[in-house]
Amino acid sequence: MANKIRVGALISGGGSNLQAIIDACESDQIDARVAFVGSDNPEADGLKRARKHGIPTFTVDYQAIIKETRGKPLENLVPEDFDLDTVLARQQLIVGPSERDHVTRFFCTRAIAENALLRHMAAYPFDLLVLAGFMRILTPYFIDRVNTNPSRPRIMNIHPALLPSFPGADGYGDTYRYGCKVGGGTVHFVDYGEDTGPVIGQKAFEITPEDTIDTVREKGLKLEWQLYPECIQLFAEGRLSVVSKTYTLKNGSKFNKKVVEIAS
Ligand code: GRF
Repeated sequence: MANKIRVGALISGGGSNLQAIIDACESDQIDARVAFVGSDNPEADGLKRARKHGIPTFTVDYQAIIKETRGKPLENLVPEDFDLDTVLARQQLIVGPSERDHVTRFFCTRAIAENALLRHMAAYPFDLLVLAGFMRILTPYFIDRVNTNPSRPRIMNIHPALLPSFPGADGYGDTYRYGCKVGGGTVHFVDYGEDTGPVIGQKAFEITPEDTIDTVREKGLKLEWQLYPECIQLFAEGRLSVVSKTYTLKNGSKFNKKVVEIAS
């Protein structure tokens, strides 16, 4: 067996994906071990799952931070190494016209929370960070401090839809309501947009007329529990690389995309 990689996980809820990852680690199905579990939600059940397995946990209560900073000037509260202009130039979360004050407050409060996450994480060296139902958007402030080598991203997310369809908070719900005949899950590297990063792996399932939103979610989650450990193993084996591709379309315009190549 190869050396085990150290995986950090961020969660917000039940943590069934986290459980699948822990189980895959403990049964030596993948060359990894979980180094820590962090959450934005002190009530997340996934934290209990981690503690049961002796995995260190921590919480950064985003909701409390947002509440406590409401109406207060943020200049003295943001981390010392936070640069608003850099974050605004890189972010691809808020596009189009939006109120400058609102955008500034969004990125400042997130940087305060993300700095707290980073300070906790500093106690646990890790090779890969997995978002497993972490319901907060990560900004360039955080991403750049984890992805210290820009050509070797090391934050993964699992999304409950076949991206690029249905990004956002309710992938299975959106898939079902649209009347799709196929649903699925996607594991991707995290970039500066929302669910836009290079795709590592996908699994799909059929949606039949008998399905409800609940059975769609059940079918999807079962596949997620297989997909996430598989993608972590590809990372552990050093088989993932991100390459920039450029295609010329029929109308002559160029299409650029960073994609994941999987070495055989
Ligand atoms: C999963 O459907 C995942 O794709 C999405 O949030 C859900 C988390 O479920 N990002 P769990 O907490 O792992 O059970």
